[in-house]
Amino acid sequence: MNNIFLVQLDISKSLKLDAAAAHAHWETDGTVHFIGYTYTAHPCYCLYKVPGRPGGAMDISEARVMSSIKCKWPLFPSYYHSFAMTKNFYVFIEQPFVLNLAKVVNMVKTKNAIIDCMDFRPMNKTVFHIVDRHTGLEINGDFVYQTDPMFFFHHANMYQEGSNLVLDLCSFRDARILKLLYLKDLEKETFQDTKSCEEIKTCRLRRFVLPLNVSKETPLNESLLHRPGCSATAVRKTEKNIFLTSEQMHNEGFEFPQINYGKYNGKKYRHLYGYSVFKSGQQALVKIDMQTKESQSWSEGACHPSEPIFVPRPGGKEEDDGVLLSAINSNTEGKYAFLLILDAKTFTECARVEFPDIRFLRDLHGLFRPH
Ligand SMILES: [Fe+2]
Repeated sequence: MNNIFLVQLDISKSLKLDAAAAHAHWETDGTVHFIGYTYTAHPCYCLYKVPGRPGGAMDISEARVMSSIKCKWPLFPSYYHSFAMTKNFYVFIEQPFVLNLAKVVNMVKTKNAIIDCMDFRPMNKTVFHIVDRHTGLEINGDFVYQTDPMFFFHHANMYQEGSNLVLDLCSFRDARILKLLYLKDLEKETFQDTKSCEEIKTCRLRRFVLPLNVSKETPLNESLLHRPGCSATAVRKTEKNIFLTSEQMHNEGFEFPQINYGKYNGKKYRHLYGYSVFKSGQQALVKIDMQTKESQSWSEGACHPSEPIFVPRPGGKEEDDGVLLSAINSNTEGKYAFLLILDAKTFTECARVEFPDIRFLRDLHGLFRPH
């Protein structure tokens, strides 16, 4: 644990920022990209970039706004948890799970928590904003890329293939999962009584394909994608709307997607790892081949795995050359909580570190620091 220093930063003191998403993106030179709200007369989602410093920590005061996207529904800014990034594009998804500002204004009187001020609005579509990283402007801004209402936390990855962006994420039918993740509920849940796991059974890994080449001449009601074997669709439905449907990449509940991030974020990739709750109720770690949709899994009796973190083998060449780390709670008689180390290629156990007499709070995310 040498050389790890935790520093608390109040980024609102350096930036005109009222809230920020849980997940940022980073580049190998230390550059960090993140997104947040600014509440002005017309609230905006702002994408920031903080340059990396050779051998040192970033300086948040050097952050600059790369793009500012006006909220589609100014009185109902969308909740967001992550965004997608390639070398040339950001994609931010404005989902119909929103902060109801009228309820926020009344919080003092109602004594509601912020979660009580959030609404899922199925009358609204889910909107995709594609931003050119070099200009900061939305591309094809005369069009609205949209799909049916959904709720999601995590993008898996996004990459450009020809004139399309391929975007993978894990989505729920609505936002009810949020009310199942209170600490008081996580602390008392048992393997047999996990309402949040029941809900994760419904979470699906989906692939959207966003066509970049659209114009006034793009025909109506014709497929804009020509990808053999891909069932995602994109159709210009009206003068201004490009309507997308997704391809389901896995037919079991799937969340906490992880990849070989350092080498493959924003690039065409093949191997995706995550946490799965099968229809049978079995919880597992899963590896999905994003070309064939074939999957491998690891599970052991009554266990709760956490997000699998991919750690590349030093000097490894192949995408899946490395190990996965996952903190596991076990409810099997005589078994302890343990840190599982899985071979990412074969999906077989390399080792485990047991922690007798403790139980992890069923955690969500993890982090590996190489030093
Ligand atoms: Fe998250």
